[in-house]
Amino acid sequence: MENFTAYNPTQLHFGKNVADTLGETALAYGKKVLLMYGKGSVQRNGIYDKIVKQLKSVHAEIIEYNGIKPNPLVDDVSEAAQIGKLNNIDLIVAVGGGSVIDSAKITALAIANNTDPWAIMKYKFKPKTTIPLIAVLTLAATGTEMNGAAVLQNHETGEKIGYVSSLNYPKHSFLDPEFTFSVPKNYTAYGVVDLIAHSLEAYFGEGDASLSDRFVEAIVKEAMEYGPLVLKEPENYDYRANIMWAATTALNGLTSYGRKNGDWGVHDIGHNISYLYDTAHGATLSIAYIAWLKLQKDRIPARIKKLGNQLFGTNSVDETIVNLETFFKSIDCPVRLSDIKIGKEKQEEITQQMLKNQIDGMAHKLSDDDRKQIVELMM
Ligand code: NZQ
Ligand code: ZN
Repeated sequence: MENFTAYNPTQLHFGKNVADTLGETALAYGKKVLLMYGKGSVQRNGIYDKIVKQLKSVHAEIIEYNGIKPNPLVDDVSEAAQIGKLNNIDLIVAVGGGSVIDSAKITALAIANNTDPWAIMKYKFKPKTTIPLIAVLTLAATGTEMNGAAVLQNHETGEKIGYVSSLNYPKHSFLDPEFTFSVPKNYTAYGVVDLIAHSLEAYFGEGDASLSDRFVEAIVKEAMEYGPLVLKEPENYDYRANIMWAATTALNGLTSYGRKNGDWGVHDIGHNISYLYDTAHGATLSIAYIAWLKLQKDRIPARIKKLGNQLFGTNSVDETIVNLETFFKSIDCPVRLSDIKIGKEKQEEITQQMLKNQIDGMAHKLSDDDRKQIVELMM
C-alpha cells in the first residue's frame, strides 16, 4: 500500500428531509446568500421553494444566479462571480447536479480571490481562500458534493477541463434521495455510468490497495444492482438512496487511498466529446470506457480479469468487456459514437480535439497513436 493522507472536510447530511435544517446551517456563515441553480428543474420539482423557504426562515438576503447548463461554461461562472462580488455575499448555496455545484465552487474561488475563474481552472492563479459553499444535490452522479473537483468548459480556448483544490469541498452537502425522484431516465442512467467510471478510474490506477479494490468492487456491484431497479421505479426511496450514496463514495477519496494514482484517461476522452457535441457526461463515458478497455486488454489483462472475476464471475478479459458493455446497453446508455448519431465524418475532428487536449493523471498514459485507436474503437 502507498502512503496517503485522507482528507475530507465536507459535512454530508443524508436522508429524508435533511434539507429542513439548511436555513440554520447557512446562518452560521452569514445572511447574504448567492443562490445558484440550473435551467429550472428545481422550480418544476419544488426543491427551489423548499430551499428558499429555509433561507427566508433565517431572514437571509437571497441573490440569484440561474441558467447554468449541463457541461457548464466558464462564462456563467464569471457572471455569477461579478454578481456575488457586487453584492458582497457571505456564502453560496448551490442547488443542482454536478454542473451547478462545480460552477459554484469556482464562483466561490473567483469571488474570494477577486480573480479570473479561468486562471484558476488553468492553475495559473493559486487561490488562498474561498467563500463557504453549501450544496443541495439533486442528481446522483459526479461525487462533487463531497470532493475538491470542478469541471468547466471554455469555448474561447476549446477546452473542457477539471480543477482540483482542497478549497473546493462544500462546507455542507444536503443529500435527500427524494430530491432525485424527478431526474429523467436518461440522466439517471448516465449517473450510474458516471459512478461506475469513477470507481474504475481509481481501480485502474497504480499501486496495491486491497481494501480500496474491494470498495470499488462493492460500489460497482451496488450500481449494477440498483441502477436497473431505480430506472424501473424512479420514486423508490431506497433504490434512489443506494445509488445516491454509491455515487458519493465513488469519488470522495475512499476508492483511491493507498494507490499511487488513478487513471483518468476515460474522463479525458469523455470531456473532449462533451466539449465538441455537448454530449451528457455519463453518455460519453459508456462509449469511452469500452474502447479504453479494448485498447488496454493486452496491456493490463490481470487487472481486467480481477475486475471481471469480482463483477461477473469470469476469468476472461473479453467476457469482462462484453459484460460491461451489455450492462451499459441494458440501461439504455450508448456504447458507440454511432449510438449518439456521431458518424465517421467526425472521426478526424474528435481525433484532433483529443490530441490537442491531453490531461495528466493517467496511470497508463495514452500515446497519440493510442488516442487515434480509441477514436476508431468508439466509432
Ligand atoms: O439545469 P437543470 O434544470 O437543473 O436540469 C438538470 C440538467 O438538465 C437536470 N437535473 C438535475 N437534477 C434534476 C434534474 N432534472 C430533474 N430533476 C432533478 N432532480 O439534469 C441535467 C444534468 O445536470 P448536470 O448537473 O449537468 O448533471 P451531472 O450531475 O451529471 O453533472 C455533470 C457535470 O459534472 C462534471 C461533468 O463533466 C459535467 O460537466 N463532473 C464533475 C465531477 C466532479 N466535480 O467531481 C466529476 C465528474 O467526473 C464530472 O466530470
Ligand atoms: Zn465523471
